[in-house]
Amino acid sequence: MKASGSQGPTLVIIPTYNESENLEWIVGRVRAAVPSAHVLVADDNSPDGTGTLADQLAATDSQVHVLHRPGKEGLGAAYLAGFEWGLDRGYDVLVEMDADGSHQPEQLPSLLDALSEADLVLGSRWVRGGKVVNWPRSREVLSRGGNLWTRISLGIPLKDATGGYRAFRRETLQGLGLEDVASTGYCFQVDLAWRALKAGFTVKEVPITFVERERGDSKMSRKIVIEALVLTTAWGIAHRGSQLRNLVRPKRMVSG
Ligand code: GDD
Ligand code: MN
Repeated sequence: MKASGSQGPTLVIIPTYNESENLEWIVGRVRAAVPSAHVLVADDNSPDGTGTLADQLAATDSQVHVLHRPGKEGLGAAYLAGFEWGLDRGYDVLVEMDADGSHQPEQLPSLLDALSEADLVLGSRWVRGGKVVNWPRSREVLSRGGNLWTRISLGIPLKDATGGYRAFRRETLQGLGLEDVASTGYCFQVDLAWRALKAGFTVKEVPITFVERERGDSKMSRKIVIEALVLTTAWGIAHRGSQLRNLVRPKRMVSG
């Protein structure tokens, strides 16, 4: 699919659950790195008051917005609500970014530049030039293993399909069928990248340096890893099955 060079208003969506120690810092860094971009904090009613803090930031900066959600429903659901909010308000570029500093706002211009030649840009830890800083060995093994499994099971070339630092054109999001996305954790990211490839969009990976959080806690859980493994495998099997069926049985014409 052809990507046009021009870029309009940009919305950086930051999902939060108990990120009060990080929020002001990350929002300030985004505003400094790309002053024209707007920020949407999508908070799941964090018990630590992140939502109230976000309201305070929004009250002093007209480019900061807050989407209050009733309770913790996972990263995927927060992004879906954020995308809808941004598409409704006419943003042309929608960015995913973690609140904890793992995705450095200072690298956002490189993602946005790459979007002039792509429909979806993935910040990638596992392409040449990509790095992780301060990650425990266990997380690195999980991420590399998860990405290897994703490549094998779906047959896609992406090096970092689980990463969560991304820039979408609005037309890309509109072409992904977001109404029936049900995955929530890591696997939400794989789901969207795979949908983009299947829809024929150009997906480009640019190197990022992922810095492990210093404040607050990761929400990653065994449940999220299992969801990713089960769903990715199921998608892979279904996809291979339909490829096979197409091989052995030519498509029937459907007449009205
Ligand atoms: N609103 C909302 N609701 N936000 C959430 C939820 C939720 O249920 N769960 C997590 N978040 C927010 C966090 O507050 C943070 O801003 C961001 O989502 C990422 O959460 P982390 O808990 O820091 O994730 P991580 O560092 O373990 O995982 C990162 O790497 C994964 C791949 O290795 C994320 O970037 C994932 O998206 C990515 O798949
Ligand atoms: Mn994190």
